[in-house]
This record gives sequence, structure tokens and C-alpha cells, in this order.
Amino acid sequence: MEILIRDTPQEVAAQAATIIAGYVREGSTLGLSTGSTPLATYRELIRRHREEGLSFAQAQMFLLDEYIGLPYDHPQSYHATIRREFTAHIDVHDEHVHSPAGMAEDLIRATADYERDIEAAGGVDLQLLGVGTNGHIGFNEPGSSLNSLTRIKTLHPQTVADNSRFFDSPEQVPHQVITQGLGTIQRARHLLLLATGQRKAEAVQRLVEGPLAAACPASILQWHRHATVLVDAEAASLLHDAPYYRYVEEHKPSWQRY
Ligand code: F6R
Repeated sequence: MEILIRDTPQEVAAQAATIIAGYVREGSTLGLSTGSTPLATYRELIRRHREEGLSFAQAQMFLLDEYIGLPYDHPQSYHATIRREFTAHIDVHDEHVHSPAGMAEDLIRATADYERDIEAAGGVDLQLLGVGTNGHIGFNEPGSSLNSLTRIKTLHPQTVADNSRFFDSPEQVPHQVITQGLGTIQRARHLLLLATGQRKAEAVQRLVEGPLAAACPASILQWHRHATVLVDAEAASLLHDAPYYRYVEEHKPSWQRY
């Protein structure tokens, strides 16, 4: 696991965009996350598309999760959110932007179909992740099976409270979701987790330096062959070994890619 610490959220976004752009140029399959954290990264990728000709025409994209019961055109569905915030502004083919079918009549089947779709695309090369204040990734809440596949989950009240800022009232936040499982996420070849701000500091400390445990689903990054944790100084503020992580990056061989 590589820990990269940047002074500001803007520097996190610039570094994340550089890592993602490397995969985009290779025509890779990307796993996308929604929420506030990746927005600055998406803005930077849109800028590179417009000003530097970065093309997403060969890319396939898979979202991590979706609320159950929100129509695709509901502004807070992740299907609509990713288009509004990112993919409508680049040259990816819209039919190559996949998300779990949260409105399917047969939800169980929809979860299996999603696993199959990811596999049929050859798997995810780079999976972008955020982390919840309670350590969730995707919508795998504490207690999630470490090898779980795409399935239906019930949100933790803390997540409902955190996400209510996107809705007019907390009552409107759906309590059930379809999410890629921790096993699904671990099949991606490279995991890139972003976290910014003081409110993520405790989750970052637990996922990097705590035990590998279902109580902190993001700790599965410790088990992955190629995981990068990219955080700003506030999110890194509780890391005990931050000077070492900075030292490692300062001494990174020039031939070693991020
Ligand atoms: C969203 C997702 C979630 C978020 C997490 C952090 O697709 O999978 O795990 O990444 O809840 O959300 P923000 O970035 O809004 O703090």
C-alpha cells in the first residue's frame, strides 16, 4: 500500500487525475465513485480533456453503487450524478458508463448481472474509491463480508445522515442500495482511494494503520496487491507514521510508476 500525502485537496485532485489519465491513455476500464471527494478530480480530468486532448473514447466505466428506488433521471441517483458531474463533459460513449440497476424489478438478478458485466468487460483496471466517515467503501458498511460480491445493502444511519446533505431532507435518502462487494472491489487491478478534510482523518488512520477487519471495510486495501491511498494533510493528520510515508515517496525510484 502506497500512502501519498498532499498539502491541499487541489493537489490531491491533480495527482489523482495524473494517475487516472495514465490508465485512460491505455484504453483501460475505470471504476468510478460518486460523493463529494472525487468531484475536484473529475473537474481536472474534464479540463485535461478540453485543453490537453485527453480522450476517453476507448474507456469503459463502472460505478461502485446505486440507490435502490431512485429513477435514473432523479438528480441524486448515481446514474444521473456521474453524468452531470463527469461523463457528460468528456468523450466517453454513454453506453460505456455502467451502473447497478437500482430500479430493476428483479434486484437480485440485477446484482448478478452487474458482476457479469464487469467480468465481460475484462475487469476493472483502476478503481477510484472514497471512504465514509465510518470506514465504508462503495456502500459496504462496517461488518460487510470481506469477500462479498455485488449485492443489496442497508445503509448505516451514519451514512444516511452524511448523505442527507445531497437531499432536501434526511427522510428522502433511500436506505437501501446495490453496491459492488469488497470481493468485487478487490478484483480491480489497482485501487486508488482519495480522502480529504479533517472529518476523514479517523477513517484514514483506521484503514491505513488499524487492523484488517470488517469493522473498517476500507482496511481491505491492506490486503490488495496494488493500493494507493491519496490524502490531503487534514485527512492525514492522525496517521502515526506520516513522516515515513512522506520519506518513502521522496525516495521513490524514478522508474516506479504511481
Ligand atoms: C460513493 C461511494 C461512497 C463514498 C463515501 C464518501 O459512490 O461509494 O463510498 O465514496 O461515502 O463520500 P464523500 O466523498 O461524499 O465523503
